[in-house]
Amino acid sequence: MDIETIRQKKQEIIDRFGPWTNHNIRLQDELYTIGNHLVGSEVKVRRFLQAIADLTGQSFSELRVLDLACLEGLYGIELALQGAQVVGIEGREENLEKARFTKSVLGLDKIDFVRDDVRNLSPEKYGQFDVVLCLGIFYHLDAPDVFEFARNIERVCTRLAIFDTHVSRTREQSYLYQNREYWGRNYTEDETLWASIGNSTSVWLTRPSLYNLLIDVGFSSVYECHMPMIPKYEQMRFREEADRSTFIALKNKPIRLLSTPLLTEEPRCPEKEVPT
Ligand SMILES: C[S@@+](CC[C@H](N)C(=O)[O-])C[C@H]1O[C@@H](n2cnc3c(N)ncnc32)[C@H](O)[C@@H]1O
Repeated sequence: MDIETIRQKKQEIIDRFGPWTNHNIRLQDELYTIGNHLVGSEVKVRRFLQAIADLTGQSFSELRVLDLACLEGLYGIELALQGAQVVGIEGREENLEKARFTKSVLGLDKIDFVRDDVRNLSPEKYGQFDVVLCLGIFYHLDAPDVFEFARNIERVCTRLAIFDTHVSRTREQSYLYQNREYWGRNYTEDETLWASIGNSTSVWLTRPSLYNLLIDVGFSSVYECHMPMIPKYEQMRFREEADRSTFIALKNKPIRLLSTPLLTEEPRCPEKEVPT
């Protein structure tokens, strides 16, 4: 496609669905989905890809990746450009049209975009993935969906899942899932193209509850990423206001200690009251 045709098709999409809201991807030469400047998500792309490379120790071309609630497709598209086989699930047609447009301009055959609700995720429907990206969607679901969602992510994941999510700094409400108690607070959703679909409130879990949930559903360990840096997150951390971070859950066989039989249970992360 020549650049004028791409520009014209891009404008047609903007006329129908509005401008791109977050994912800036170079289409050709100086032509980008948003513009020829940094928009902020670039540092996230770098963080997530570095984490995948470091933690899998494999080349991207060996990986099957799921990009949940993929918006305009940036993370999945970057991974497909790097050689991974990717499925992107997104609930809004407005966002998917933009993702599909970029896929066709870049001539990518390694990524498929599917319109679906992430609450329908299952291994029966989508198969399994080495890597699951759960970026900017976990905190948009309500209870009990958010708990089922965590469980289904674990079921489709064979190696690691990246959760870039808000957490609650306050312990305001308890939620019961499969006889276990979790804490957090309810959050009122807005009405943008980034918001949840079908629920007006969502649950933001506390950090300890998020850690406990990920272990309870079957992940073997959970890590929080600080570098490569997302400056916005680290600034919040320096002010002790951090309510968003990148958590990486790994899936492996639980290790049984050989040096002592005494540790039989995985201790749960204790909740702590955080002053507001
Ligand atoms: C905050 S945006 C995050 C997008 C992207 N993952 C990122 O990190 O830039 C949330 C996305 O989730 C989508 N979404 C919200 N609820 C959904 C649901 N139940 N099923 C599928 N997509 C959903 C929205 O349309 C939006 O694209």
